[in-house]
Order: sequence, then structure tokens, then C-alpha cells
Amino acid sequence: MIAPWWQAGVIYQIYPRSFQDSDGDGIGDLNGIVQRLDSLAALGIDAIWISPIYSSPMADFGYDVADYCDVDPRFGTLADFDELLAQAHARGLKLLLDFVPNHTSDRHAWFVESQASRTNSRRDWYLWRDAAPDGGPPNNWISDFGGSAWEWDGATGQYYYHAFLREQPDLNWRNPAVQVAMHDVLRFWFDRGVDGFRIDVLWHMIKAADFPDNPPNPAWQPGMGEMHRVLQFHSADQPEVHAIAAAMRDIAGGYSATGDERVLIGEIYLPVERLMPYYGGERAEVHLPFNFQLIDAPWEARALARLIADYEAALPPGGWPNWVLGNHDRPRVAAKRGQAQARVAAMLLLTLRGTPTLYYGDELGLSDVAIPYERVRDPRELREPGLGLGRDPVRTPMAWDASENAGFSTARPWLPLHEDWPTRNVAVMAEDPASILALYRQLLTARRAHPALAIGDFALLDSAGDVLAYERRQGAQRLVVALNLGAQVQHLDLPDWAGGCPPLLSTIPGPAQIEGRALRLRPNEGVILAPA
Ligand code: GLC
Repeated sequence: MIAPWWQAGVIYQIYPRSFQDSDGDGIGDLNGIVQRLDSLAALGIDAIWISPIYSSPMADFGYDVADYCDVDPRFGTLADFDELLAQAHARGLKLLLDFVPNHTSDRHAWFVESQASRTNSRRDWYLWRDAAPDGGPPNNWISDFGGSAWEWDGATGQYYYHAFLREQPDLNWRNPAVQVAMHDVLRFWFDRGVDGFRIDVLWHMIKAADFPDNPPNPAWQPGMGEMHRVLQFHSADQPEVHAIAAAMRDIAGGYSATGDERVLIGEIYLPVERLMPYYGGERAEVHLPFNFQLIDAPWEARALARLIADYEAALPPGGWPNWVLGNHDRPRVAAKRGQAQARVAAMLLLTLRGTPTLYYGDELGLSDVAIPYERVRDPRELREPGLGLGRDPVRTPMAWDASENAGFSTARPWLPLHEDWPTRNVAVMAEDPASILALYRQLLTARRAHPALAIGDFALLDSAGDVLAYERRQGAQRLVVALNLGAQVQHLDLPDWAGGCPPLLSTIPGPAQIEGRALRLRPNEGVILAPA
């Protein structure tokens, strides 16, 4: 059987404000993405996921949606979107949008009506509650961006719930009319031809019906951010969320019957055992519940081997794995692991079993960019400054060439570029066979040439010291991946069948050193070995 595209392929996340500006306002847009599709095709990815492009006041940069069925003018128009989709498809690239079902903008027409009066027909589309007896918020739930998750509405004398900013009121997904309206949003974009969705904060969508207090978090410390003061026991990951996910899957499935499969990817930050149910049980749920473990994992061979084995073992029957090194909310891999290990991490991401999602700019080894105080834009940072929670550092503009503003825009970019953009950019690095960009391209080429790397079986190999090693196998095709996670020389005894295998690819220029079954890994070196 041929693997579906979302299993064999590689997804690339675009943060649209920062990818390519086409109209000179310093903010990326849809036509800009069209201009760079050839570059993405040359990189060798299979699908792009674009963070929200819908009409939005941009309190949370598009994750506050004012109209789910229109494009924000900063990004373009619906016609621009149709053109982007057609151009992506013409290059064989799938396109995923970002579905933000948990909350809308407070400027969404539904919320404006809901807020208008207690008797408005849309009142119950959001989560309104009376004050506690002391006049304070109905319970102790804390916004993920700090402060109470309840906002007082003086005009109607009730609080509304917002898991994020007060400009992002949570929808009431227990209300069937909300479900119908939001399902229509999915259909609107599926009808236009999108290949799937990443679903924003899927595990937040249903809260305990009686809104009990969350328990305090005994491990909380001030530097962690206020949201961690309590454990989100009652405000997220409720049993009823699974029927919601299954209903979305039914809709996607209805479209899949007529053509290529439409895919759903859930943004879910939960421990593995609570993540797995989002694949679905009797009813299928999302195709891929995002697996974010590599972002924070200790960068240590034994710990990573255990993490990978545990994740593989926890997958439900038929559940397809996936891996992520970074996204628009989390520190970049180069910042966490350093430039040398960022290359090893790239090889890991692109050779593990499971769909990889790349974050734009990681192929350049972009690191977190220090944002001067006066240029901070992220509400997360503005609300709880100085704790390192801000996300601007990982959302800086893509660098395309050495021209003004790195080819990103003719205007001053909305966030500053990284300092070394004159050399750390696509045009310069594409010419340098030793660059991390060249490595990414080679890895993506190797995946296409060796299906075992994309869809083959996975088995850890015995290894010692800083070496993480595994085998990928499909039919007669067998490869070894050996990664040195440290800065010392390491040795690996290869299995018999791999003895003397020529290296297919190394993260470091120059030939890998193999003598019979003995593989010598240079500091920070990862290699793929394939029998000739
Ligand atoms: C998700 C998004 C994040 C956003 C939040 C609220 O976690 O990835 O960027 O701020 O949801 O929508």
C-alpha cells in the first residue's frame, strides 16, 4: 500500500507575517508566499501549514479571529488565497490552514452580539458566568497569558471566560449552534480546496461543565509564568473534547472520499498518555496529535532513546507518529541546542519514523533574536515581561538574500532581522555545500530517494556514550542513522549487515570514518549509512 501524503511527506510551517512581504508594509502576506513557492519546492518539502490569515484585530497576531471566512487585508484577499492554493497545488505542495476553534476575537460579530445583552440569541455562544459571592471571578482559572481568565462585563453584569487574552473570548462548544457554525467554517475552506488544518489548542475546547476551581500547582515558581500557578485540571483536556474532535474528523473524512485525504493536526500540549486518545478510539479523531516532546527533551542520547521508544510504544494501533523541533510559540532549536547540534537535530527530525513539521527559518539555523524593548510586539511578553515567555524572538523575518531587509520587504520589517542576515540567508547558504540549508536539502532528498527513511519501520540500535542510533527498514531497504549528541568523538559498533556500509550523508562535510563494523563519529556528527 502506498502511504498517504501526510505520512510520507514533510510539513513546513509558515508564520505569514514573517515569510515574505509583497506590498511594502513590512509585514508578510499571501502574495509574498506565492513568490517563494519555488524556493519551498526546491527545499523539498511536501506541504505548508500557514498560521492564521483570517480577518483579525491582531491582538494575538491572527489567533484572534474576527471573521473565519475572510482573509485579513494585511495578508491579502480571498482571491489571493485562491491563487496561492492553485500555485501551491501546481507545484505538488499541499496547503494546510490554521483553524482556531477555541476562541474568537472580541470583535467577532458573534461576540459583539453575545455581549450585547443577557437575552441575546448568541449569549450562550460564549462562556458567561455570574460573579462569585464576593463579586470576584467565578473561579480561580488563570489565563495562559497571565491574570484571571475571567473578564468582567459591567454592562451585562457577568464575567466571560478567556483562556488567552481578554480579546480572545472562548466559544461555548457545548452549544450545538456553535458546533454547526464552526463546522461550516471547516467546510468553507475545504470547499475552496485546502488540504487540511492544524487545529489551535484543541485540548482546551471543552471545560468542566460546572467550572470548579483548578488545583494549585505545588511545583509553581514565579519564573514559570502565572498560568502554571494552577494545574489545568478542569479547564482543559475534558472527556467531551473527543466527540468534538471526532466530528471534525468526520467532516474532513467526507472530503477525503472525493480525492486526496484531508488531514487534521491537533495542537495539544499534554503528556504522552493523555495525547494518544486524540488519535481517537472507536471514532477517529485527528490524524496527527502534535508531538512536541523533542522541543524540551534533555539532549542526551539515553534520554532521547527512551523518549522515542516510549512514544512509539504508546501509539494506538494504526496511529501514525509525528515530530516537531519548534514552532511560532517555542524557542528555536538552534537557540536551545546550538548551531552544531541544530544540524544533528535536523537529521533526527527527518529520519525518525513519523511526519516531521519544520518551522520556517530553522533550515537557516535561525536562532532566537533578541528583541529590544521598544520593538516587543507579543502580548505574551508585554503581559509578563522578562520571564523569557515572549514569542517575538522566534517570529522574526525570513532572510532570502543579501539585499535590503534580507529580501523580506522593501520596508522596515515588523520585527528585527537576525544580525547575521547578510550571510545567513537562503541565497548565500544555497551556494555553500557546508551550510545547514544544504544539509536540510540533502536530508529531504535522501528521504525521497529512500522511502525507508520516511515510512519504514524503526528500531533503536544498541549504542553507548553520546550516540543515539537506529535502523530504518522497509522491505529490503535498510539504513542506519547514528547521531553524536556530544562534542567528543564517539564510536558505534554497527550491526553485521551494516558493516562497511558507505555513508549516504553526514551532518559534517568530509567522509565519515568506518572500518568494518566500527563507526567513528566526529564531535557533533550525525550520519546516515545505506548499503550500496
Ligand atoms: C496557540 C497558538 C498561539 C496562540 C494561542 C492562542 O497556542 O499557537 O500562538 O497564542 O494558541 O490562540
